[in-house]
Amino acid sequence: MGKDVIVACDFDSKEKTLAFLDKFQGEKPFVKIGMELYYAEGPAIVKEIKARGHKIFLDLKLHDIPTTVKKAMAVLSGLDVDICNLHAAGTSRMMEAALEGLTRPDGTRPLLIAVTQLTSTDEEIMKRDLLIDQPLDKVVMHYAKNAADAGLDGVVCSPLEAGKVHEVCGKQFLTVTPGVRFAGGDVGDQKRVTTPEKAKELGSDYIVVGRPITAAEDPVAAWKRCVAEFCD
Ligand code: C5P
Repeated sequence: MGKDVIVACDFDSKEKTLAFLDKFQGEKPFVKIGMELYYAEGPAIVKEIKARGHKIFLDLKLHDIPTTVKKAMAVLSGLDVDICNLHAAGTSRMMEAALEGLTRPDGTRPLLIAVTQLTSTDEEIMKRDLLIDQPLDKVVMHYAKNAADAGLDGVVCSPLEAGKVHEVCGKQFLTVTPGVRFAGGDVGDQKRVTTPEKAKELGSDYIVVGRPITAAEDPVAAWKRCVAEFCD
């Protein structure tokens, strides 16, 4: 898979999501289904969007004991999505178990990536709330290395960390980066943000963009602007 823009479809119903995707007419953006939509509509929405021809990143960020995550991943592997994820904070053992669960009997599986530190977390919050006293980029690189060693395909991180992740874990190791805003756009609850153009420069493989597209007056134009800045 090459560089692409993944649209975070953070909606609370199938109706709103399909009305949003209908605006794209012939175009088939790569779609991210997160907790909000999945908890509202369940696996049926994944199947429906897949049947419409979109690639899907199922962003459920699993984090539990290894056995539970392994069994949950085995269920998710039946959904035929392109990318699944979990929290690297769940430990290396949990990541290895997840990979085992996700792998189908024929050896195929969706890509599996790990969330390092959420892009809504900054160093001060990490120190205060999580009692993690190390510099944020050191924590992100450590989690990325754990994910690579466990056999995962990449990480979710800020575009600001993408270049260093590639240095530490190799060029093939994917960096999927939320926290993307157009120049002068509303940052919302995100902390570690850049523009699509800057994310490209920094070496992100995929950018995940939600509100700058979903809340835009013309979402298709906003998506095309992201694609032009990031992919071309
Ligand atoms: O609206 P916005 O562009 O901020 O959406 C970013 C999306 O990426 C959200 O769906 C959020 O859950 C997800 N995400 C994130 N930071 C991570 C992992 C996922 O913002 N580290």
